[in-house]
Amino acid sequence: MPRVPDTPAEYWDTYMPHRGEGEQPAPVVNRFEWTQYPGHGPGAELLGEPRRALDLGPAEGKEAVYLAQQGVEVAGVDLSLVQVERARRWWDGVPGLDFVHADACDYLASGTRLFDAVYSVWGAVWFTDPEQLFPLVAKRLAPGGVLAFSQAEPLPGAYGPQPMRGKWLEGREHELTVLRWQYTPEAWADLLKQHGFTGVQALVLEAPEPNKLGTLLVRAHTRA
Ligand SMILES: C[S@@+](CC[C@H](N)C(=O)[O-])C[C@H]1O[C@@H](n2cnc3c(N)ncnc32)[C@H](O)[C@@H]1O
Repeated sequence: MPRVPDTPAEYWDTYMPHRGEGEQPAPVVNRFEWTQYPGHGPGAELLGEPRRALDLGPAEGKEAVYLAQQGVEVAGVDLSLVQVERARRWWDGVPGLDFVHADACDYLASGTRLFDAVYSVWGAVWFTDPEQLFPLVAKRLAPGGVLAFSQAEPLPGAYGPQPMRGKWLEGREHELTVLRWQYTPEAWADLLKQHGFTGVQALVLEAPEPNKLGTLLVRAHTRA
C-alpha cells in the first residue's frame, strides 16, 4: 500500500512550467547547481565519485543529467508525473539516466539496489518528514555512501514542518498548501547523527549578493 506523501503531487505539476506556447526547449546543463544562483558554491564534487546516484525530486532533471553526462548511472524519482514525463521527453537518449514516478519514501522502501550517493536539490528531502526519510535513505546507501541536500535557508525561528504556498498555483494556494521541513544546520546535523550518519557537515551558504536568500547545504555519510 503506497504511503500518503507529505505533499500532493498536483502541487508540483505546474512547477517550472516555462510559460509559453507549446513544449519548451530543454534547459542548458553545464554544471551541478546546489543553489538558485548559477555558478555559486560547490558543484558535483560534493558527491565524491559515485558510480550510482539517486536524485530525490529532480523535476526538470538538470542535476541528474549533468551526472549522467559524467558517466554516473542516475535514477531520478519524482512524485509529479507531469515533471517525470517532461524530464523523460527532454532527456530521452541520455545514457544511464532513468526518471521514475514515485514518492521518495515508497521508492526507497521498495527496492534493494544500493547507491553511492543520494541527493536532493531543493527537492523531496525538503518536503518529507526526515524521521521517515533518513532511515530509508540509510538502507539504500552503500557503506561510506553520501547523502547531500540543499534547500532555502531556514526562516529565523522556524523549526520542523512549515506550510508553503507556491506562487505558481494561481489561486489554488489554500487548497494545495504543502509542508516543508526547516531546521537550523545544527538541528539537521543532530537528526542525521541520530539516524546513524557520520561526518555530517551542515551550513548556510550566503547568497552572492546582499539581502538575497541563502542556501542550506548538508552532507553526511553512512559508515564505511
Ligand atoms: C522545488 S522542486 C525542485 C526540483 C529540482 N530538484 C530543482 O532543483 O529544480 C521539488 C521537487 O520535488 C518533488 N517532490 C516533492 N515531494 C516529493 C516526494 N515525496 N517524493 C518524490 N518527489 C517529491 C516535486 O514533485 C518537485 O518536482
